[in-house]
Amino acid sequence: MPVRQLTEAVVNRIAAGEVVERPASVVKELVENALDAGATRIDVITEGGGRRRITVTDDGGGMSRDDLVLAVERHATSKLDDDDLLDIRTLGFRGEALPSIGAVAKLALTTRHAAEPHAWTLAVEGGLKGEPKPAALAGGTRVDVRDLFYATPARLKFLKAERSETEAIRDVVRRLAMTRPDVAFTLAGEERAPLTFPAALPDAAGRLARLGAVLGADFAANAVPVRGGRDGLFVEGFAGLPTFSKANSLSQYLFVNGRPVRDKLLHGAVRAAYADHLARDRHPVLALFVDVDPHEVDVNVHPAKAEVRFRDAGLVRSTVVRALLEALTRGSGRAASTGGGATVAAFRPGGLAPRPGWPAERGAA
Ligand SMILES: Nc1ncnc2c1ncn2[C@@H]1O[C@H](COP(=O)(O)OP(=O)(O)OP(=O)(O)O)[C@@H](O)[C@H]1O
Ligand SMILES: [Mg+2]
Repeated sequence: MPVRQLTEAVVNRIAAGEVVERPASVVKELVENALDAGATRIDVITEGGGRRRITVTDDGGGMSRDDLVLAVERHATSKLDDDDLLDIRTLGFRGEALPSIGAVAKLALTTRHAAEPHAWTLAVEGGLKGEPKPAALAGGTRVDVRDLFYATPARLKFLKAERSETEAIRDVVRRLAMTRPDVAFTLAGEERAPLTFPAALPDAAGRLARLGAVLGADFAANAVPVRGGRDGLFVEGFAGLPTFSKANSLSQYLFVNGRPVRDKLLHGAVRAAYADHLARDRHPVLALFVDVDPHEVDVNVHPAKAEVRFRDAGLVRSTVVRALLEALTRGSGRAASTGGGATVAAFRPGGLAPRPGWPAERGAA
């Protein structure tokens, strides 16, 4: 066969295949967009395991008419200021999510920017973009995704049972909710009891309250605060007491610069820190938030941004291990279920470590 250039529609579907693997990927991209837009409240509704419908509503800054029209084009983003892929302070940066979703589903965006006299709505169906039309919306953005993968039926065949897709969506919302205690989240839909995480303060007590809401009151009562840092790298979070362990490592929630990640290096550091505290077949429950200068970490190594690469792996590992060991030493007097009050009290006043310039800016894009 001769070499030929693929059509734009095919190119877009191939790209979409990487970004939109399953309904939960759509939820992740839309919630991340809402967080980047400075939302303080994000409501997610899904039906049919997200295949029939995903609606994400936020109260963020919204988009002007012109931005809305551009936002659904490939490689269009408001988040890369000076083309520096190593200075990423937002969850998004590629300008791929909306066009990818629009290529494989029926996408409708309704948004209201403060500078516009009214809201605008725009539809993209199977890659075909409509015209923006005036709409009614008080503020923020509502994104509605219907009939996911209707344009790529092959993908449909690879979806798991509705129940597992529903569960994967729940997992995505829970993980993102852990990153931002100051943002209220709800997840609803005919297939589930609604999940509600009210907004809390962005301090250690708020963090613990949110973790308790997501992981259960048991965790909050059986976790010690973790806090450490060195050379521009900060680690904070809550680590479950060794007496509160699990038979698998699925309850280790790891975040880098506000992004939920799977990371061998971090998991290895956790294992090393608990090695003397836990039997080999037991695993801790924890939520660890690593913050580092964006130049020290490459987030552009995975299509769904689920993995990162650190420039100084040794520093990350030793800082995480040390912070965890210190936390476990402080908690060593406590066995499981001594009550959550002690956990909060163990914090020095002043809340989470101040990180000048950077996480405070996150969400301001
Ligand atoms: N909920 C929202 N509120 C306000 N603006 C939004 C919202 N969602 C998307 N946008 C705008 O649309 C642009 C495109 O969104 P899209 O998710 O496709 O790309 P991105 O977030 O820039 O990068 P990525 O592909 O890595 O997610 C964003 O850069 C942002 O300006
Ligand atoms: Mg995005």
